[in-house]
Amino acid sequence: MVEIVPFRPEHLDEVLGLCSAEGWRSLPDDPARALRTLTAPGVTTLVAVAPDGVVGLAQVLGDGELRSYLALLLVKQSRRREGHGTALVRAALEADRGGRLDLLSEAGSTAFYERFAHRRLPGYRLYRT
Ligand SMILES: CC(C)(COP(=O)(O)OP(=O)(O)OC[C@H]1O[C@@H](n2cnc3c(N)ncnc32)[C@H](O)[C@@H]1OP(=O)(O)O)[C@@H](O)C(=O)NCCC(=O)NCCS
Repeated sequence: MVEIVPFRPEHLDEVLGLCSAEGWRSLPDDPARALRTLTAPGVTTLVAVAPDGVVGLAQVLGDGELRSYLALLLVKQSRRREGHGTALVRAALEADRGGRLDLLSEAGSTAFYERFAHRRLPGYRLYRT
C-alpha cells in the first residue's frame, strides 16, 4: 500500500537519495537548501510513501489561486510502472485550486504526460547570460 502524503522533514534523506540515484544533484548538493525549497511558501511537495519508505515525490510551485507549475516529479527506479507517478500527478491536481499544472517534460516522459487531459504548448527555459 502506497500513500500520497504531504512532505515532512523526516522524508528529506530518502528524497535526496532518489534524486541522487537519478543523477539530479541540485537538491542533494545542499540538503539545508533542499529542505527550504521543498517547504517554501507557495510550494506543495507530496511524497509517495510505501511501507519500506519514500518511492516518489512531486513538487508544485503555485500562486495559490490560478497558476501552478510542476517543478519536480520523480519515482524510484525500481518502483516505476506501478502507477505512483500517476497518483502523484493526480494528487497534485486535486490539491491545486486552479486544477491545472504547467510543466516542462523530459523527452522520455512525454508518453507519461500525454495520458492526462492536456494541451501542448511550446516550452522554454531561459538562462541569465
Ligand atoms: C516519468 C515518471 C515520473 C513516471 O512514473 P511512473 O510511476 O513510472 O508512472 P506510472 O506507473 O504512473 O505510468 C503510467 C503510464 O504512463 C506511461 N509511462 C510511464 N513511464 C513511461 C515510459 N518511460 N515510457 C513510456 N510510457 C511510460 C505508461 O502508459 C504507463 O502505464 P503502463 O505502465 O500501464 O504502461 C518516472 O518514469 C520517472 O520518475 N522518470 C524519471 C524522472 C522524470 O523523467 N521525471 C519527469 C521529469 S519531466
